[in-house]
Amino acid sequence: MSSRTASALAHPNIAFIKYWGNRDDDLRLPANGSISMNLEGLETHTRVDFDDSFSADELKINGENPDKSATERVRRMLDEVRQLAGMQQFAHVESHNNFPLGAGIASSASGFAALALSASRAAGLELDEASLSCLARHGSGSACRSIPGGFVEWKVGTGDADSMAVSIASPGYWELEDCIILLSSAPKVTGSSMGNKLAGTSPFQAARVADAPRRLAICREAIMGRNFAPFASIVEEDSNLMHAVMMTSRPPLFYWLPETLGVIQAVKTARAQGLQACYTVDAGPNVHVLCERTAVQETLKLVSSLPGVREVRLANSGGPARLVENLQTAEDRT
Ligand code: DP6
Repeated sequence: MSSRTASALAHPNIAFIKYWGNRDDDLRLPANGSISMNLEGLETHTRVDFDDSFSADELKINGENPDKSATERVRRMLDEVRQLAGMQQFAHVESHNNFPLGAGIASSASGFAALALSASRAAGLELDEASLSCLARHGSGSACRSIPGGFVEWKVGTGDADSMAVSIASPGYWELEDCIILLSSAPKVTGSSMGNKLAGTSPFQAARVADAPRRLAICREAIMGRNFAPFASIVEEDSNLMHAVMMTSRPPLFYWLPETLGVIQAVKTARAQGLQACYTVDAGPNVHVLCERTAVQETLKLVSSLPGVREVRLANSGGPARLVENLQTAEDRT
């Protein structure tokens, strides 16, 4: 074997019922199940080349060499793929996001989903969706949800082999939009991997996890019934619960800015007056305001004039991770 290559595309996702905290940090076995939607139009493209002539793994994200810890996470996934395929070649990995890093959209989900698919295929493996989802999960928990398409549930599972994500509804099933409100692009003080490790130090985490099956059931049913009112209240409750855990971890994590609360309050007030929109916030200050397509214009009007809003991006429900034509690498061009 001399050289093998494959490229894949994956979308990031927004969680409606959040993943926060692991029962096994190394394998990323989550404390609770979660539900999300892939974000159409936002994409990571990743090309992996394995070649006899390479003397080390190399990684470029948007043309730059990432920091040591990102490189180490990628190397771990490449090691897992090499082991599964029984091979030893080093790899060159080139990854491009069509959305700015730090735009309030987690690039680790789409990044590790695209890497799991492209690296496994380049190594000659043909993994099914469940195995790909588990492989992606090892790189970043939320990445397992970017493997299947549309509306997705990550099953808490009993162990490494069955904690994977499955599609519960296709992308077009419900015309839901995510208005991503960018308030700050400053890098997070505490990344989600560290945050996930701290979740268990909050006395509220056990209650949050114990109640998760109820929230998952309500959310699943609201999606299947395209029923916005129960969806809105469970999504907001789940986001608030996760932030209550974050704020009461040891040390406490405060991801919100004053402007984050400003958007939350504006959305709550507008919903009380009839606007069908709700909020959810991940491990950062930016707010995702969710609404049905029919409410997009009114929602955009509301949020774009709020203090601190730098940019709003719109995304509806996206498809699964998939193989694509090879990207040209710098090496191809020389
Ligand atoms: C708040 O999947 O980014 O976005 O497994 O350490 O990579 P790692 O964490 P990550 O955590 C995501 C946390 C969240 C909620 C969610 O997406 O479910």
